[in-house]
Amino acid sequence: MQKTIKHHNNYLTLTFFLMVAALINGCASGQLGKNNSGEFKNGMVVSAHPEASQVGVDILKKGGNAVDAAVAVQFALAVVYPNAGNIGGGGFMVYRSAAGETNALDFREKAAAAANRDMYLDAAGNPIVDKSLYGHLAAGVPGSVDGMVEAHKKYGKLSWAQVIQPAIDLAEKGFKITKRQAGELNGLHRNFMDFNPLGTAFVNLESTWKENDLLVQNELANTLKLIQQKGRDGFYGGSVADSIVAEMQRGKGLVTKEDLKNYHAVWRKPVVGQYRGYKIITMPPTSSGGIALIQLLQSVEPYPLKKWGHNADSTVQLIVEAERRVYADRATHLGDPDFYAVPQKQLLNAEYNKNRMANFNWAAATPSSSVLAGEIAGKEHEETTHFSIVDREGNAVSITTTLNGSYGSLVVVKGAGFLLNNEMDDFSVKPGAPNMYGLVGGEANAIAPNKRMLSSMTPSIVEKGGKLFMVVGTPGGSTIITSVFQTIINVIDFEMPMQAAVAAKKFHHQWLPDEVYVEKGALDSLAVKTLEAKGYKIVPRGAIGRVDAILKTKWGYYQGGADPRGDDKAIGY
Ligand code: DON
Repeated sequence: MQKTIKHHNNYLTLTFFLMVAALINGCASGQLGKNNSGEFKNGMVVSAHPEASQVGVDILKKGGNAVDAAVAVQFALAVVYPNAGNIGGGGFMVYRSAAGETNALDFREKAAAAANRDMYLDAAGNPIVDKSLYGHLAAGVPGSVDGMVEAHKKYGKLSWAQVIQPAIDLAEKGFKITKRQAGELNGLHRNFMDFNPLGTAFVNLESTWKENDLLVQNELANTLKLIQQKGRDGFYGGSVADSIVAEMQRGKGLVTKEDLKNYHAVWRKPVVGQYRGYKIITMPPTSSGGIALIQLLQSVEPYPLKKWGHNADSTVQLIVEAERRVYADRATHLGDPDFYAVPQKQLLNAEYNKNRMANFNWAAATPSSSVLAGEIAGKEHEETTHFSIVDREGNAVSITTTLNGSYGSLVVVKGAGFLLNNEMDDFSVKPGAPNMYGLVGGEANAIAPNKRMLSSMTPSIVEKGGKLFMVVGTPGGSTIITSVFQTIINVIDFEMPMQAAVAAKKFHHQWLPDEVYVEKGALDSLAVKTLEAKGYKIVPRGAIGRVDAILKTKWGYYQGGADPRGDDKAIGY
């Protein structure tokens, strides 16, 4: 009898605890799928613009999967976040299905067939800096539309028409611009007028832009409708291709109808690495990001970062020395794998990266001038945007996409209403000459017809124990790799929740120039003094990165990390 009562009591206690747990985890807020910590059960979208995040979640709620939502978000960002969201640019997607299948899609732009190695040099062989940055000649052949067509064809569930429709609505009916966007559009007023004498929706001729003004883009809406009706032919052929080529002729650009017809996104095998028992699935070349990320993780893994602490002087010193070596490798060994034999296997070898750190000295900074790219034995056969998406089944998409600079080349294709990229600047226009991010390169990333320019974009997915753990990525040019790296160690080593890991202040080193860029408040004054005494040149700078990420908690809920450095927003359901 005693025993029965005891069991009964245990049962009551258990029921009580289960009820409390249910309250905490699901029902208390009264919103299905959400718990009191603001975490969501059914899916989540984190992107640079609230309207785009909402589009993605609406697609998920309609029964779309993560890829359907990603395609919808990519097109929506082309409307509501024209700084970097695009159909005239390119990007990379890393995908992981709920069952653990992984894939990577390279929809990076390509150099036109008429491009050549010296196209941005003057008669004396010196780079003409603005030539690869602004105007028609700065544009590569756009990859985003073909990329989205390919992603949807392979993994999409909803119809193509359904996933494009929200972007058409936003372009046609207009959307309310944020305060930040109003400021940017006003700031670029003159430039848009200069590069687009025939007019563009981004120019407000009546007054200045203000927060909540409606931005309507009718020409873009028509282009999106053609893409909706005809798929890739709606962009790479017909009237849109005519408009692109006419625009090129007006501004002496190189992209031809043949270039457009020949553009195809490429499925590639993701780069995979291990870090403290976690599996990192990330982007292979044409991005340098994935390889560099794994190299950084391997370089610091032998050291007790957790014991030293987040942004402690030892932690910063070690990471800077790892970054110095990895970016030296990037400058020499990374380029379009269809044109250059990237020594991927050796760069991803843990022993190689450990050896690269062997000559690092705790007493003093290693001057970058003394660090060359690692010896490879033989040959082997500032504006981008990132979004992270998970769906109800647990499929995950990590996409980083860009026009390169903010609003790309500043050229809007007349009649078609979208901005052209200025991605050609990501090539090494001359060996050793820095690009807009201060990155240098050589033969591996020299310009050649139909070649893809090297990128730093690092869309990534992390697994723990064979299950989805994190979806992560960021814009930021050369700082992309180090921001993704720091976000990952912030969670794994420093045990931060997703939002804190994203918001945490960051720092960056890239071999050349030999300076450590530090976000305001990232390091305390003692750490700065200690590092300066060892010869590190600490340079304060503004925001580093704009990470949008999702973490899956051990309770199976999705935690969003939307970067407070922008208008970014995590929406779950
Ligand atoms: O592909 C790259 O690495 C660059 N075009 C990315 C540009 C970028 O992140 C600018 N954002 N702030």
